[in-house]
Amino acid sequence: MRVLVIGATGKTGHAVTRALASRGIAVRAAVRSVDRQNMAYAAGARSISVVDLVSGAGLPAAVAGVDAVYHLAPNVHPDEVRMAERVAAAAAAEGRARFVFHSVLHPDDASMPHHLRKAEAEHVVRGTVPGATVLRPAAYHQNLLEAARSGRLAVPYSLDSPFSNVDLDDVAEAAAVVLTRHGHEGLTYELAGPEVLSVREQAAVASEVLGHHVSAEHVSPDAWSAGPGTGLPEQARADLLAMFTAYDREGLVGEADTLRRLLGREPRTWADVLRAAGPVDGAATNR
Ligand SMILES: NC(=O)c1ccc[n+]([C@@H]2O[C@H](COP(=O)([O-])OP(=O)(O)OC[C@H]3O[C@@H](n4cnc5c(N)ncnc54)[C@H](OP(=O)(O)O)[C@@H]3O)[C@@H](O)[C@H]2O)c1
Repeated sequence: MRVLVIGATGKTGHAVTRALASRGIAVRAAVRSVDRQNMAYAAGARSISVVDLVSGAGLPAAVAGVDAVYHLAPNVHPDEVRMAERVAAAAAAEGRARFVFHSVLHPDDASMPHHLRKAEAEHVVRGTVPGATVLRPAAYHQNLLEAARSGRLAVPYSLDSPFSNVDLDDVAEAAAVVLTRHGHEGLTYELAGPEVLSVREQAAVASEVLGHHVSAEHVSPDAWSAGPGTGLPEQARADLLAMFTAYDREGLVGEADTLRRLLGREPRTWADVLRAAGPVDGAATNR
């Protein structure tokens, strides 16, 4: 079986490529530039296609002859609806490709513009590729992993809001399942982790697992804008500030039963992910 993975050099695409390759699936990695092709090969891709999601250049050749397409958009990209349209249209023209779209948990939350773009992209995908499968992952544990290992979780939203974050490798494994097995056509799956934790609770768990103190600190959105958010395009910064406000209000919580069923085992907890990564100076546990 051959699967095209869009965004294979990014955080999510890399994990999905690795999950597929470890199951013996031939991954064709869509990369924006050949300069980064080694990242895709390192994840286990067998071949490379250069694709520009903004212009659509390279898409017909990339989808030619594949059995399935995994599509994701670059994070908070203003053009993500049209990107979905371009990739879905190329896959539909190829005819026989199974299509899986990587969306987000609660895409119809109108308080977050980039979530709403995902809802629109889902709509476009379903209308273009009959039988497309949609995955809606929660926020990844890996977003906070390196910060926890370095001893400080500093976030621009409430330390007490609830989150059911999910292990990215579990998401990638679920993606591999729906890409390679029948029975998921036309379905939409929420992929959330098995526990609900605030950032304050995540810091406490990390302190215990890693054996060193991990602080939880609130950073004001203004300080975030002037610091980590400063180099972002205006729209991406606005999208993320809207997300922090939504996180302040209600966090981001989903259910884990679907992921449990797809994996056929218990999804990994925050403690599992920390244990596998280990402390900064320590040896990571293989899994
Ligand atoms: N982070 C989370 O917790 C989370 C949770 C749920 C859903 N999601 C969603 O997952 C998706 C992927 O997020 P991510 O963090 O994995 O993204 P990412 O690391 O930024 O990766 C984006 C990928 O897209 C590629 N790309 C960017 N512009 C491109 C273009 N014009 N043409 C072709 N390729 C292009 C990048 O290539 P280069 O390597 O060349 O830049 C990279 O491979 C996003 O839509 C996000 O909303 C994320």
